Amino acid sequence: MKYDTVLVLDFGGQYCHLIGRRIRENGVYSEIVPHDITPDEIKALNEKFNVKGLVLSGGPASVYEAEAPKIDPGVLEMNLPVLGLCYGQQLIAQIANGKVERAACKEFGIAYVAIDKNVGVLKGLSKKEKVWMSHGDTVFAMTPEYEVLAHTENCPVAAFRHKRKPIYGLQWHPEVVHTEHGAEMLRNFIFEVCRCKANWQMEDLIGKMIKELKAEVGDAKAIIGLSGGIDSSVATAVAAQALGDMLTAVFVDHGFMREGEPEAIKAAFGSYGINFVMANAKQRFMEKLKGVVDPERKRKIIGEEFIRVFEEIAEKSGAEFLIQGTIYPDRIESGFRKHSDKIKTHHNVAGLPARIKFRKILEPLRDLYKDEVRKVAKMLGLPQAIVNRQPFPGPGLAVRIIGELTEDKVKVAKKADRIVTEEIERNGLAENLWQYFAVLTDTKATGVRGDARAYGYVVAVRAAESREAMTASFARIPYEILEKISTRITNEVPEVTRVVYDVTHKPPATIEWE
Ligand code: XMP
Repeated sequence: MKYDTVLVLDFGGQYCHLIGRRIRENGVYSEIVPHDITPDEIKALNEKFNVKGLVLSGGPASVYEAEAPKIDPGVLEMNLPVLGLCYGQQLIAQIANGKVERAACKEFGIAYVAIDKNVGVLKGLSKKEKVWMSHGDTVFAMTPEYEVLAHTENCPVAAFRHKRKPIYGLQWHPEVVHTEHGAEMLRNFIFEVCRCKANWQMEDLIGKMIKELKAEVGDAKAIIGLSGGIDSSVATAVAAQALGDMLTAVFVDHGFMREGEPEAIKAAFGSYGINFVMANAKQRFMEKLKGVVDPERKRKIIGEEFIRVFEEIAEKSGAEFLIQGTIYPDRIESGFRKHSDKIKTHHNVAGLPARIKFRKILEPLRDLYKDEVRKVAKMLGLPQAIVNRQPFPGPGLAVRIIGELTEDKVKVAKKADRIVTEEIERNGLAENLWQYFAVLTDTKATGVRGDARAYGYVVAVRAAESREAMTASFARIPYEILEKISTRITNEVPEVTRVVYDVTHKPPATIEWE
């Protein structure tokens, strides 16, 4: 059976893949394709799928830049429904000879749009809608074959549609949770405009991942990097189903894990029925990182050292393939696409060295977001302790200790982190938080202990709420709990004289400090 499918044309926007997953959430299959796909290539995809519509994603470019990513104008003539979002909307307007200009004031963040006509994609919406905007160019006027559906104070054409063809443009991002009725807008497009049937489900994805891994690896052996986090645990469970005892899971203890973590991982996976190797690599990581302060260099060194450890173990076991639990946001933030900006080097993506002794690196979860991974984990029957674990970056505490790493700083960071974790979990806050942890800053501050002057570290506490880590809000932790955390850290970790709470959202900050 062929799935009804909506293609998302990728213009490099941070939220591009989010569009894909929001569509899949509705039981309709979605694939991300390059922005310069041709009408013939779209037709060819119909051999595999039933292509019912196209979404043009947002992107960081301005339609006026010489290098700005373009679309084959023939794509708009295929009689397929089209929805342009942000940059996608401006591109449709430019091709249609509308008036698109660089706005004097860029709109960014929450905005309110006035809906002038609630039809098509905007069906059922009220006169005023809360939306998420993030744009520089603005559409000021459209040609007579288009009608305006919404406006804001700064954008006279915040939404439009073609009068005869199913072509729509929205200035805002319906795929981001901050757009209050974004889900309805996308549903309107998928079901009312494209007339898709919801004939796809998550289980199909697990089957597809297993089939792909089997086909790639064949009769060879593979190793998988297992950090005990949900991503690598799910990737291990999927790979175990595909490869059985041809798979070896490797846990690299680089020394930057949280307190008790290596032991807990050994306990959880030691009895998992797969080959399991624990590599003690504390010393070599610390040596490589000596004197390194720059966060991106830290990430690169850690990424490379991981691979070197994997290569040594693979040589012994005869493994030719390396499997990683990389998920979609890791890749997008590492800037793997042509038109997107690099935010930071995730250790298992852009942190990879140029030369690798593996035949290939395989990433079965590469298109998934964290909460999709959690769904897969539940479907695979992984234990609750793993399904609900908070995400932990591969480089571990190394990116939560600002500045040069030393063994003493690692000890301080571990103790502070344990206190944050204990207090958040003990007080029942963990369930609603994406992540909660301590950061050891490289700032020192004066304090007073007993009657004496003290001079010690500043620890920052970070707790964030998020759905998929692309955006996040700092959590409004009750003062009493912050007070408890601060008192405990300064009492129990004498090297720390001051505790501060991070009240920055993402964007403009990222969740981790480095
Ligand atoms: P940021 O700090 O970019 O993080 O807002 C987004 C999410 O990704 C996690 N993270 C990583 N995960 N390897 C990983 O496996 C990495 O190098 C890495 N860096 C950040 C971070 O904890 C957050 O959940």
